[in-house]
Amino acid sequence: MRHELIPVSDIPATGTVSADLLGREILVTMVKGKPRAFVNVCMHHGGPLSLEGDTFVCAWHGSTFDARTGHALSGPVRPDARLIMLPTRIEEGMLVYVYETHEDDSQARGSAAAMGRPGVHARRRLRELASSLGTWFDS
Ligand code: FES
Repeated sequence: MRHELIPVSDIPATGTVSADLLGREILVTMVKGKPRAFVNVCMHHGGPLSLEGDTFVCAWHGSTFDARTGHALSGPVRPDARLIMLPTRIEEGMLVYVYETHEDDSQARGSAAAMGRPGVHARRRLRELASSLGTWFDS
């Protein structure tokens, strides 16, 4: 799957800008000059997030998350929770959300094996993200 999120030139150096992914709000921010895209949903009970410095803060119950990694920092959210950070890449000046489907994964596995780099960790993480998004989009 591939979905254009926002022109890179529209991402502010500080703070966030909203983008749309299939009707869901994505918060895009720059972290050390590199764009990061997070689904705007708290991992506690789905509250909206806002960026305060280097931390996302949930408006509902105050959980906080590291804006570089998405990992929970404090609040009622589970300590091992992590925001949904989308896999992205920049294509012709656009920030694009990308993830491999099972067909892509099979093709990539063949290519990666041929090139001698299995990429197991990357495929596992993408499956986890796709699973999280599937659950979340179904709600
Ligand atoms: S919904 Fe975010 S802290 Fe409860």
